[in-house]
Amino acid sequence: MGSDSEYWSDYYAVTVDRPPWETVRLAIRRFREEGEAAAGAPPPRFAVDLGCGAGRDARELLRAGWRVLAVDREPAARETLEAAVETEFRPRLQIRVEDLATVVIPPCDLVNASLCLPFLAPDAFHPTWRRIVAALRPGARFAAMLFGDRDESAPDPTMTCLPPDEIRAALAGFEIEHWLAQEDDRPTALGEPHHFHLVEFVARRI
Ligand SMILES: C[S@@+](CC[C@H](N)C(=O)[O-])C[C@H]1O[C@@H](n2cnc3c(N)ncnc32)[C@H](O)[C@@H]1O
Repeated sequence: MGSDSEYWSDYYAVTVDRPPWETVRLAIRRFREEGEAAAGAPPPRFAVDLGCGAGRDARELLRAGWRVLAVDREPAARETLEAAVETEFRPRLQIRVEDLATVVIPPCDLVNASLCLPFLAPDAFHPTWRRIVAALRPGARFAAMLFGDRDESAPDPTMTCLPPDEIRAALAGFEIEHWLAQEDDRPTALGEPHHFHLVEFVARRI
């Protein structure tokens, strides 16, 4: 997989109309169920969508009534998301073109990170993980899709692809509500063959 702007622009063109990932759907559902169980109107929810890309997850959160801060370092991500988002949802969306390694992650109900954190080298990945955890108060959630250590990208020193056990250990202080680790050979969104080792989870801060 490449990491240059041209690669990502092509990626956004292909993925802009794809459905949201199951992880973000599940997190939204959990919050909705909690809201229905509680007395009174549910509080307005705020999510930070890291590495938002074309915004498949950010737009699902907006459709569910959330306020969303979407972050990606590629200007083309912002352009694609701005063009795709429904006008009525625009006031609830803020987009920042920033690096995940340095962006300030405000306190929020959900940090969503689909297929983006592995693109950080270890010296940025681990501090970013700690900043994510610090942004989540008890009851908040972390939904993510990561690459495991058997992914084809794992030997790349600019990336971080951890063994599933290490990811689980890094979620100490969370109740893991959803966990799936799987391997398969299939094309990337841009049609390149790839051995995937995907680890996805939804976890609730205790
Ligand atoms: C595989 S795409 C996933 C996009 C989106 N989350 C999705 O699931 O469709 C990875 C995204 O992470 C972004 N990204 C990678 N490294 C980043 C970094 N250091 N800072 C900000 N964004 C980054 C890329 O620009 C790209 O949009």
